[in-house]
Order: sequence, then C-alpha cells, then structure tokens
Amino acid sequence: MVVSLNLSIPEPVFTVALMMRFVVPKLQSRILLASFSLVVSFVYLIERDREIHAENAQQDKLLDHPRWLAPHVPTPPEVIDAMLKLATVRAGDILYDLGSGDGRIIIRAAEKRRANAVGIEFDEELCNVTRLAIRKHHLEGRVRVIQGDILEQDLSEASVVTAYLLPKSLGKIAPLLQTQLKKGARVLSVDDEIPGWKFTKRLNVWENSTARNWWVFLYVIR
Ligand SMILES: C[S@@+](CC[C@H](N)C(=O)[O-])C[C@H]1O[C@@H](n2cnc3c(N)ncnc32)[C@H](O)[C@@H]1O
Repeated sequence: MVVSLNLSIPEPVFTVALMMRFVVPKLQSRILLASFSLVVSFVYLIERDREIHAENAQQDKLLDHPRWLAPHVPTPPEVIDAMLKLATVRAGDILYDLGSGDGRIIIRAAEKRRANAVGIEFDEELCNVTRLAIRKHHLEGRVRVIQGDILEQDLSEASVVTAYLLPKSLGKIAPLLQTQLKKGARVLSVDDEIPGWKFTKRLNVWENSTARNWWVFLYVIR
C-alpha cells in the first residue's frame, strides 16, 4: 500500500496576487494588500497544520486499535474498473468489499456490472458517506454497507471479495476467506499479494492522478 502526500501553495496567495496585478493600480494599496495576503496565508498555514495534526492523531488512534487492518486510501476508478473486469464481475455476483471506505467499489460493481454488493467498514463517517452515495445512485435494493469489523463477518454468500489492506492484514484475513468462501469464489487484492496464496491472474494498471502503477491480484478458491 502506497500513501502519497500532496503539497500545495496556499490559495489566498494566488488570489491576492491576481487582484494586485489586475485590479489595484496604486503602490500603497498594493503594499497593503500584500501585507493582508501574508496574514491570510499565515492563518491558512496554521489552520492546515492543525488539520494535519488532527488527521495524524486519528491515524495514531487507529494504529492502537488491535483490529485495524489498513488506513483509508481509496482505489482510483480506473483500477476498480480493471479489477471488476479481471474477475468478470457480472449480474448474479455478490461482491463483498472488505474495508469499503467511501463505498466506491460496491457502488461501481452494482452500477457498471449489475452485481449485488456489500461493504464492510468500521469507520462510522465512511459508512455514512457510503449510505448517502447508495441513495444518490438509487442502489438501495442491491448495495448495502455494514458498519463492523471485517474479522467478525460471515462472508459465505460472497462470490467475489475485494480487499485493499496492509500486507500483514491480508495474512490475517486469508484463513477467514479460505474457510468461509465457496469453491470458485474470486478474491481480488489491490497492491499486495495474499501471503502464502498462489494468484490465478495479476494485472498492472497505470493510473494518472496517483502517477503510479497499481497491481491487482486475482485468486480463485479451490
Ligand atoms: C485502503 S482502504 C480501502 C477502501 C476501499 N476498499 C477502496 O479500495 O477504495 C481500507 C479501509 O479498511 C477500513 N478498515 C480497516 N480495518 C478494518 C476492520 N477491521 N474492519 C472494517 N474496516 C476496516 C479502513 O477504515 C479503510 O476505510
């Protein structure tokens, strides 16, 4: 799993710089606006720093959680489409996404592939985001999210399972998948191989917004 960092120049600096260039003709006013811009940027940076600290604190809290299997890093739509195609997900399939984040995989599986789909996610806020998206896409009959722990679910009805988790977490869920899933069920893992398992197919997808190659591994339960 790769976690990337976005660095950007504060927006107020651009806004005020543009105003000064085109709207403010006098030098005095420009100096005034420049000072204002500096203050705004300073406040912006402090606020940003506070947000980053809050995010880190939440990640630390999660890391302490004995059942925490991965941070929330979304899979890009192009990669989702490639994985659904790799596993030939279709109408009649029941897809479970283990750690479903904002619900993007279950929604795409239902919308583009006409599958039924279930997400399992223990973050309450992400479950709420998912429920809103399900309603927005009118998928209430075919898609649902369970707020709960992956390690405590009954996965036996799934014909397809997707997981984007940390490598050591894949090792934790592997016995669960092996004992609960039916023969012929397909398992898709994003970025990392399931330790000790032999994949049936694998795929490498270049994705522009993350500027990297994403691996997808497909396994079939025997
Ligand atoms: C890497 S994200 C993947 C999100 C989504 N599947 C996707 O590919 O866009 C992993 C998700 O697993 C969730 N998660 C981690 N441990 C979990 C657990 N034990 N039970 C349920 N969800 C968990 C996290 O909150 C996070 O949203």
